[in-house]
Amino acid sequence: MIDINMVETLETITAIARQAGAMAREAFNNPRETLTKSSGVDLVTDTDKRVEAFIVESLTGHFPDYSLVGEEGGEYNAGNSYRWFIDPIDGTTNFAHGIPHFAINIALADAQLYPPLLGVMYDPMRDECFSAIRGEGTTLNGKLLKVSSTPTLAQSVVASGFPYTKWTDPDNNADRWGHFVVRSRGVRRMGAAGLDMAYVAAGRFDGYWEHYLNAWDIMPSIICLLEAGGRLSNYAGEPLDPHQIIKLRVVASNGYIHDEMLTVLREGYNAPRPGL
Ligand code: IPD
Ligand code: CA
Ligand code: CA
Repeated sequence: MIDINMVETLETITAIARQAGAMAREAFNNPRETLTKSSGVDLVTDTDKRVEAFIVESLTGHFPDYSLVGEEGGEYNAGNSYRWFIDPIDGTTNFAHGIPHFAINIALADAQLYPPLLGVMYDPMRDECFSAIRGEGTTLNGKLLKVSSTPTLAQSVVASGFPYTKWTDPDNNADRWGHFVVRSRGVRRMGAAGLDMAYVAAGRFDGYWEHYLNAWDIMPSIICLLEAGGRLSNYAGEPLDPHQIIKLRVVASNGYIHDEMLTVLREGYNAPRPGL
């Protein structure tokens, strides 16, 4: 067991995320090189790679005792179960298309992945830094956050996203999206999973669901959500598998609308609609 000073560690990774964000912000205004990965909708830019290399170098320099995994292939094995999860740009499609909505995600977890020990998400275009330490609450630029108190799905704005396999996999969330459209006040597809869940922590959204996510997409937002009083589960209402890194199914909410969201996910067309 490693003795971790959580507050100091969070300060260090916040500084790293802010520097990484400054790199992405600067690159956002310049021409970019975009390549595809697993499919024609799964993109990576030269900036994703450069930002990840910077974060990997900074984290291994400051914390040589922790392992690390990054979305763009960054890997380091320190021989214990403490591990950083890095998404250098969450919202790459937005970034590649010049849409200013993306974030730098960094979180530290132990062998029981969920919830992580601490995490930070930095949105460089709005200068918004979401962070949380287990047991210490969630802050946005230093101000404490709390989930909304919206009591019903009919009064809620919720968010979701679609997997990169959507062209070929019928389990692509299009039908679930339609069911939420007719049962909520509004559904949003912003394009950065971590920020979607952080917005639930901030009370901007009341709920969020998505599947086929990877741990680096949502690790910091999970601790932010829970520390802001939110509820997290898989689509069946159960806790996340503490060893699962890929293909996660998550429902995040203010707690009040969680069971309604699970009903819509389970019953689909047959789930009750709000009355007029
Ligand atoms: C993606 C975004 C998107 C979500 C995808 C993720 P990336 O991450 O978070 O909102 O719908 O499932 O893979 O590729 O931009 O880092
Ligand atoms: Ca991501
Ligand atoms: Ca990414």
